Amino acid sequence: MAAAESTGRTAALVPAAGRGERLGPGAPKALRPLGGVPMLVHAVRALAASRTVDLVVVAAPEDTAESVASMLSEQSFPAEVVVVTGGDTRQDSVARALLTLPDDVDVVLVHDAARPLVPEELVTAVVAAVRAGHQAVVPGLAVVDTIKQVDASDAVVATVDRSSLRAVQTPQGFTRSLLQRAHAGADLDEAPATDDAGLIERMGLPVHVIPGHEEAFKVTRPFDVVMAEAILARRRAAGAV
Ligand code: CTP
Ligand code: MG
Repeated sequence: MAAAESTGRTAALVPAAGRGERLGPGAPKALRPLGGVPMLVHAVRALAASRTVDLVVVAAPEDTAESVASMLSEQSFPAEVVVVTGGDTRQDSVARALLTLPDDVDVVLVHDAARPLVPEELVTAVVAAVRAGHQAVVPGLAVVDTIKQVDASDAVVATVDRSSLRAVQTPQGFTRSLLQRAHAGADLDEAPATDDAGLIERMGLPVHVIPGHEEAFKVTRPFDVVMAEAILARRRAAGAV
């Protein structure tokens, strides 16, 4: 496979405009604290820490975009950070962030604010895989539970062969041109894609999976907050943060 020309900058888009309904009542999820620091700040720190990311574009909830911008401007990150207004769906939030990219960006990551503890090594590995010539890259983990398909009345229809399944995470990485084509061509009558690689698959194009990381899990339900706090406490005890 031919290596992508690696002359441009790398940007990370961070969809952060969700409400966090499954987490229960409270502030938008990305702004809820973990170890006293908003999830979004953890996520931006991890992306910037990889040093492969030059620019971070955060898609914030419309009603809090200004306060998010001022909150982030008080932090110092080793990357440029920009805030835009997100949309009604994750796909829309990513599309809006994508539109704001400067011309010199040629590789784009998309990373959920709701995956605040992603190790910087995973960020670096995704960028490296794109720069090595894979146009669409996702981190994935083997599925540990037995997966059953059910019908509308919860009767089991089949047990799915889990050896061929992967639970995919973010950051997902793309050449800018492919991600732009995928979003520009997205059929808005179809259900929005829950990840960006899904749009590439709809185009019939290949998506490459690299090993994911357990700590890149998505904070979705209250249990995940307990897990995230425990991981942070362990990192702090080890002097890693
Ligand atoms: N997201 C977004 N814009 C939306 C919806 C989601 O930018 N309109 C972002 C979220 O902020 C999150 C990521 O997409 O970082 C993954 O979405 P999810 O985990 O579903 O977060 P929420 O939509 O906030 O949670 P919930 O579905 O429980 O409300
Ligand atoms: Mg959601």
